[in-house]
Amino acid sequence: MRIDVVSIFPEYLAALDLSLIGKARRDGLLDVNVHDLRDHAHDRHRTVDDTPYGGGAGMVMKAGPWSEVLTGIRESAEPRSGGKRPVLIVPSPAGAVFNQRMAYDLAEEDHLVFACGRYEGIDERVVEWSREHFDVRPVSLGDYVLNGGEVAVLAMVEAVGRLIPGVVGNPESLVEESHSDGLLEYPVYTKPSEWNERPIPEVLLSGNHAKIARWRRDEQFRRTAERRPDLIFALEPESLDKGDRAV
Ligand code: ADE
Repeated sequence: MRIDVVSIFPEYLAALDLSLIGKARRDGLLDVNVHDLRDHAHDRHRTVDDTPYGGGAGMVMKAGPWSEVLTGIRESAEPRSGGKRPVLIVPSPAGAVFNQRMAYDLAEEDHLVFACGRYEGIDERVVEWSREHFDVRPVSLGDYVLNGGEVAVLAMVEAVGRLIPGVVGNPESLVEESHSDGLLEYPVYTKPSEWNERPIPEVLLSGNHAKIARWRRDEQFRRTAERRPDLIFALEPESLDKGDRAV
């Protein structure tokens, strides 16, 4: 998968060299390119923002540098895109909220481009113009406001990147994790079996795999009902088994 990130703080994205995502880059599974938007501002001060039409606080990112950098990315990708449009993700508190479903969908794409806005955002005409060549998706990390899109991009690239085959060493670990089945993950324990006068739940020492699986699933329900009741209401009835219905 190819990933391009455009930012006025390219150093923020240095974290993409670390850990599993960094290894995936070195292994050739992820081709990550970070672009400095200011390289596409051609005045002496490398200006990327200006005051908003209609007045109001803050500054707005100018269309010119964005159109130049996005055109360059698109043209450099075209020869191998096979006609499929790259996905342009615009992190914004005004976007659709990111979730695991979106991460799975994005992991199927060949080319993701992230446009990190700062200040009050990017001139809306850039978003409209980009729809000609990109599949544009404004995406929010959650219902709070960050200073810019960079932190959101780090989170999204990690969530998507780890779903690409070969990035996570043991693919089994992707199956039984929070949100993969619409529920939060069950609690986990490791040695010693008693610590600070706290024993682990006995069933985990029973060797009875069916019983352990049932206990884990019940714990998922208990946790989810307590912490995220909204997820319980969103469950598809077909995803429930007989044992679940009894909980
Ligand atoms: N930029 C500013 N706030 C954001 C948020 N909540 N999600 C994504 N990008 C943002």
